[in-house]
Amino acid sequence: MRNLTPENITEVFQSYMGPETDPRLREVLGSLVRHLHAFAREVNLTHAEWNTGIAFLERAGEISDAERHEFVLLSDVLGLSSLVDMLHSSGEGTSSSVLGPFHISGSPPLPMGGDLRGDRSDPVLLVEGTVRDPQGNPVAGAELDIWQTAPNGLYSSQDPEQETYSFHGLQTVGADGRYGFTTVRPVEYTVPSDGPVGDILRACGRHPWRPSHLHFIAKAPGFRTLVTEVFPEDDPYLDQDTVFGVREDLVMRYEDRAAGSFPAEGFELSGKVEGAFLAVRFDLVLVPE
Ligand code: BEZ
Ligand code: FE
Repeated sequence: MRNLTPENITEVFQSYMGPETDPRLREVLGSLVRHLHAFAREVNLTHAEWNTGIAFLERAGEISDAERHEFVLLSDVLGLSSLVDMLHSSGEGTSSSVLGPFHISGSPPLPMGGDLRGDRSDPVLLVEGTVRDPQGNPVAGAELDIWQTAPNGLYSSQDPEQETYSFHGLQTVGADGRYGFTTVRPVEYTVPSDGPVGDILRACGRHPWRPSHLHFIAKAPGFRTLVTEVFPEDDPYLDQDTVFGVREDLVMRYEDRAAGSFPAEGFELSGKVEGAFLAVRFDLVLVPE
């Protein structure tokens, strides 16, 4: 086709795809290009703006490596990661949320009642709950992969001062579906903003903060794997999470518990916590596959 116009170029693009094109690829790429062309027409995209966009993508590529996933971060701050996640949620069970770039596999086992806090002096946070199916039956043997920031707001993979698996643990729930461990209250933190995605946030007058949260991946045979987070209800960034990860059913109260009320047994810290502490309950509902 040589008589291209701003009006027909979109259809011409579609016609260039050969008959052997995978039907789903044809649908997805065809739609992407339709929207891309419509966007350029709608804003009357200039050469300078097109160049700025290309330079942005090049910078995102340059800064990305095995640990730095700038394109995932871009998807996160544009709300695309959360949109894709919500589109495929069944609407049943505990809501899922963003995985983020700081999960590392191979976390060490965290026994029931185990402790992630170590010798830190921050107040103890006791986290407990159950893992159940939609009928309320315990999901015995479910595996919880848990990770969070240290009190300095950094994940272990970002912080050379931390051990590889600091604030990471893998807990297998018992026949009663219960899980429980102690840790410190995670803190709110900023997503990496020293790259091109940070430039976009600043240009849009947006901050890079996420409300504090504990990450969970819950896995059990016969159930959909759940990637989720739990947020404290008093976090100042709850209604402005820069990666759109908050869902109503993931917001829980961190309760103040009086000195002397720490469980006398069942936790690694039983008998060792005399002062006041915090406690949060987070029950997980897994959906059958
Ligand atoms: C996180 O929660 O770890 C995270 C999620 C999305 C982008 C950056 C960090
Ligand atoms: Fe996180």
